[in-house]
Amino acid sequence: MKKIVSIVGARPQFIKASRVCRQLRDNGFREVLVHTGQHYDLNMSDIFFAELGIPQPDYHLGVGSASHGKQTGDMLSSIEQILLREKPDLVLVYGDTNSTLAGSLAASKIHVPVAHVEAGLRSYNKSMPEEVNRVVTDHVSDILFCPTEISINNLVKEGFDNPVNGGKLIDRDDPAVGPGSAMPLVANVGDVMYDIAVSMCEMVNPGSVLERFGLAKNKYILVTIHRAENTDNPDNLRIIWEALGEIARAGINVFFPLHPRTRKAFMENSIPLDTETNIQCAEPVSYSEMLVLESNASGIITDSGGVQKEGFFFRVPCIIPRNETEWVELVESGWNILTGIDREKIAGTAIGLARGTGPGDWHPYYGDGHAVDRIVTILKGLD
Ligand code: UD1
Ligand code: UDP
Repeated sequence: MKKIVSIVGARPQFIKASRVCRQLRDNGFREVLVHTGQHYDLNMSDIFFAELGIPQPDYHLGVGSASHGKQTGDMLSSIEQILLREKPDLVLVYGDTNSTLAGSLAASKIHVPVAHVEAGLRSYNKSMPEEVNRVVTDHVSDILFCPTEISINNLVKEGFDNPVNGGKLIDRDDPAVGPGSAMPLVANVGDVMYDIAVSMCEMVNPGSVLERFGLAKNKYILVTIHRAENTDNPDNLRIIWEALGEIARAGINVFFPLHPRTRKAFMENSIPLDTETNIQCAEPVSYSEMLVLESNASGIITDSGGVQKEGFFFRVPCIIPRNETEWVELVESGWNILTGIDREKIAGTAIGLARGTGPGDWHPYYGDGHAVDRIVTILKGLD
């Protein structure tokens, strides 16, 4: 394996790709990095490239925001042109965004092998745009890098270990992959976000970050909301805001870095963000700031996939204002609580959360911090 085209475009993909990019290059791969431009604000894109030392993209597609069809379609045709020109041995995609879908579809249509990092996740809710993106991406991928046992099992249920489709399962401790295999390879490598979050958090000075935002350890609830089902539904948005108000009026500080989509939704629904003194709304923060904010919170309310996992990495319980989650092991173990969009449940649970009252044992669901090593080892094995 010599040449890899990596496709990124949205905030969590910059974070996931950061370490993989570095290790691929350190291991002699020629990586061509493509930024689709799905996220473009300084604090949604450039800030991550700078802080995480991600190489400048070789191609920036500048697609920007648009409807699903237009955004994905624009990416698809541009990525196809790049792949025809670059003739890579493999395309690497991350997660479940429209950039993931465009990258995997463009490659598979012209018979370039696809590797999917964070494969096998399912919410089983097809009204989520991400669910469509992940199912399609998994089914056109040649290498499926799964983060957990449950994601492996989800793929098994979809026939990935069935000899009819030629699928082959390998386990985390056996990264020996037959070179030139035409079969999709499904490997539990662990979660790249775990590798990155834990090692990066150790390098940040929490005091200065908390001071910058006027917060004290274990004395605030951190909030992020951006899912379409919450931001595009005025009732859901209003209920979540009312729940935050209730928490604030119980004397608990709430820190809420707003995704641009969420800020826009509050404005469009005429929900003023400055009515509660204990709620601090902010611009999106950097990754290192976010890790500090997560690891020092008394609890987190989030509909983000990445943030709910990071809460668990740092043993901080999360409230998920959704009806289901892809990271089911976190709910089953009691660390994360699915409240649905229920004002009393969200507020009551948050008020009741106290640091240190972790609901159960902490299991290494996400591997041992060497997911990136395994991915690179497997890719080297295909050389
Ligand atoms: C996307 C992903 C979602 C992922 C999230 C990570 C899809 C379908 N969704 O959702 O899976 O969890 O990224 O954050 O791919 N906007 C800006 N500036 C930006 C980026 C976005 O103002 O830099 C605003 C625009 O109004 C845009 C809206 O946010 O229309 C939504 O952006 P988009 O990338 O379409 O979806 P996300 O909600 O960010
Ligand atoms: N994040 C960040 N700054 C913020 C909010 C989130 O750096 O203001 C990080 C967070 O730590 C996690 C990732 O962005 O690593 C999650 O991205 P997001 O919630 O946008 O998407 P999702 O994970 O739901 O796809």
